[in-house]
Amino acid sequence: MAVMGQNLALNIARKGFPVAVFNRTAAKTQEFFETRVKGESIYPAYDLREFVFSLERPRKILLMVKAGEAVDEFLNALFPLLDEGDLVIDGGNSFFRDTDRRIAEAERRGLLYLGMGISGGEHGALHGPSLMPGGHREGYALVQDILEKAAAQVEDGPCCTYLGPGSCGHFVKMVHNGIEYAFMGAIAEVYDLLRKIFGLRAPEIARIFAHWNTLPHLNSYLVDITARVLAYEDPETKTPLVDLILDAAEQKGTGKWTSQVALDLGIPTPTITQSVVARSLSSFKNERLQIASRFSISQKTLPWSEEVPLFLSDALYLAELAAFSEGFHLLQEASRVFAYHLNLPEIARIWKGGCILKALLLGRIQSALTLHDAPLLFATEEFRSEVQEKLPALRKVCALSAEHGIPVPVLSAALAYLDAWRSEKLPANLIQAQRDYFGAHTYRRIDREGTFHTEWEVTAG
Ligand code: 6PG
Repeated sequence: MAVMGQNLALNIARKGFPVAVFNRTAAKTQEFFETRVKGESIYPAYDLREFVFSLERPRKILLMVKAGEAVDEFLNALFPLLDEGDLVIDGGNSFFRDTDRRIAEAERRGLLYLGMGISGGEHGALHGPSLMPGGHREGYALVQDILEKAAAQVEDGPCCTYLGPGSCGHFVKMVHNGIEYAFMGAIAEVYDLLRKIFGLRAPEIARIFAHWNTLPHLNSYLVDITARVLAYEDPETKTPLVDLILDAAEQKGTGKWTSQVALDLGIPTPTITQSVVARSLSSFKNERLQIASRFSISQKTLPWSEEVPLFLSDALYLAELAAFSEGFHLLQEASRVFAYHLNLPEIARIWKGGCILKALLLGRIQSALTLHDAPLLFATEEFRSEVQEKLPALRKVCALSAEHGIPVPVLSAALAYLDAWRSEKLPANLIQAQRDYFGAHTYRRIDREGTFHTEWEVTAG
């Protein structure tokens, strides 16, 4: 019954479904009732057994527990109290392999289980989140009405759909977060350039982001909150609060897992991965301070011109599109390898509202995925000419950053990603030759079929 749990309970009760709530520490439940429950059909339980027996059968239990061991601990206490056909939904950011293991355990006990990604933070939980459930289809049927009414609503339906079997709900949420990391990282880099190269202050940058949020290709939850964050003044010091926040980014693991799984499956997701790396590097604040003092940095600013926000916004847009392409590519491969049977356009659709990735762009992504069935969105008819036209802007931003010694790992990764996919020839021929030289790993040739090995010393000598 932390805030997410409280908000979801209120949201579901307000949609007309009575809810019983339980928290390990009773004080939290009491406080919830004293401060937030105002006549909704919500009933407190102060003992797990009492909670379980108060529910109508088949029971439908939504767990909002911090991902990791706490989930297993709670399930160990809960599972023995349940009856065949009862449903447990894990609404946390659980690692998908843990979800597979828990589904197997639930099955052994004759229970139904859903791993459900929930996005949208506290506000979404109360007013309509994006819900990403996967697992037992019969389990979804039990709660479909509740979840679809509690979810955010967009023009073509609720931001909730049954995604598929096994751990796919948590997998999809994990990739959502990977893309979230990348988009946040790209936004942060653009902010950094605006303040360091063009000498703008937070309120001025806030106005630029607020304007970008009015443009169809950039309108999004993350651009919107960036403008709000940058405009916020610390009431005590009367300075922009963002300037007072320590520049050491934290993370709970979903971005890292996305990158790890992408590496395991052989799917290139450099924009996402670099955003994870950038967060890790930022966390070495003390070391950075020491190292920075050993190098002289001459930070020259450039004069402002009307052109600046145009090329920066184009660069940001391409980084966002690269991150979405990486994410959907990974989802497609995971769907094949793990037999998730994912419907990619449906995933784009349920991200159009309620979640952190909410963006107008997702409508176009949805239609590109429907029409072309190709996850490399930037190369589809929908986006190709726009990418071609905006690439010089991303190139210019990366070159400018390099000249000024400002790290833009996310934007640079997006550029290299797009450039690599557009390359008819890559230098991998040389890598193959090197591998064959030192390890007889063999190579293929472009002029004949087969696998070849060369005694390089003999021929070269
Ligand atoms: C969401 C968010 C949410 C949470 C992230 C934060 O979709 O609502 O992704 O799940 O804010 O887990 O992750 P980090 O702490 O790793 O940044």
